[in-house]
Amino acid sequence: MKNTVVTFKEMKQKGEKISMLTGYDYSTAKLLDEGGINGILVGDSLGNVMLGYEDTVSVTMEDMIHHGAAVARGAKNALVVIDMPFMSYQTSVYDAVVNAGRLMKEGRANAVKLEGGEEVADVIKAITKAGIPVMAHIGLTPQHVNEFGGYKVQGKDSATAKKLIRDAKAVEAAGAFAVTLECVPSKLAEKVTKELSIPTIGIGAGAGCDGQILVYADMLAMFSDYRPKFVKNFANVREIMVQAFKEYDSEVKAGTYPAEEHGYAISDEVLSQLDD
Ligand code: KIV
Ligand code: NA
Repeated sequence: MKNTVVTFKEMKQKGEKISMLTGYDYSTAKLLDEGGINGILVGDSLGNVMLGYEDTVSVTMEDMIHHGAAVARGAKNALVVIDMPFMSYQTSVYDAVVNAGRLMKEGRANAVKLEGGEEVADVIKAITKAGIPVMAHIGLTPQHVNEFGGYKVQGKDSATAKKLIRDAKAVEAAGAFAVTLECVPSKLAEKVTKELSIPTIGIGAGAGCDGQILVYADMLAMFSDYRPKFVKNFANVREIMVQAFKEYDSEVKAGTYPAEEHGYAISDEVLSQLDD
């Protein structure tokens, strides 16, 4: 059954945990769906994971639409959320609504996600008013890497912890259907989760959140440029892939692949006619 933003809210009310993972392409979306994952985020982390950028700043609307539409074609049951890339919602409320609309119409998203708290409340309100569900994203917001001076846990002191709580309440009041909490202390995330009526989806935010999200390539150990503390490797797909590539390489070079059964036949009669 198709997961919707209503499903997410009901799961929080019933105390059922919500599972989310990122996805960036059709084939992986089908596998995530088969795994029963409630929501797929087409994260702008695709800049790092799929495109090899060092941060998410360079990711474009076209990148998000291209990958988002592929995921939407593969996900029959999971809710598809597409990230709004850097500078697609910061310039004005008008630009934000237009770009959120493109992610829905061209990317076929079920919802969009954007980074920020109090400062983007008006943007969340306007997009939501247009009938587009918004997932907020607070705590460590990677599009602000140049402002933060790196990727650091947020909300460790009382000033930034209070700011996180204000941000959570602001995005809820603005109409967000859920909020991502990235890299915040577990007990703070638990407190925020209790105080909100909308689900919190944690990444590096402990078990007290209503749901969890990870970058799928991280939890499969496929992406190895860096590995944050909160990542658990649920499988070592990197090792499996590299091993398979090595075996293919040696079989091609040894002439053992392809074998006869991998080829297409032609009759001797046709063959004999070729030299006439
Ligand atoms: O882009 C992304 O993958 C994200 C998640 C880490 C929440 O925003
Ligand atoms: Na993101």
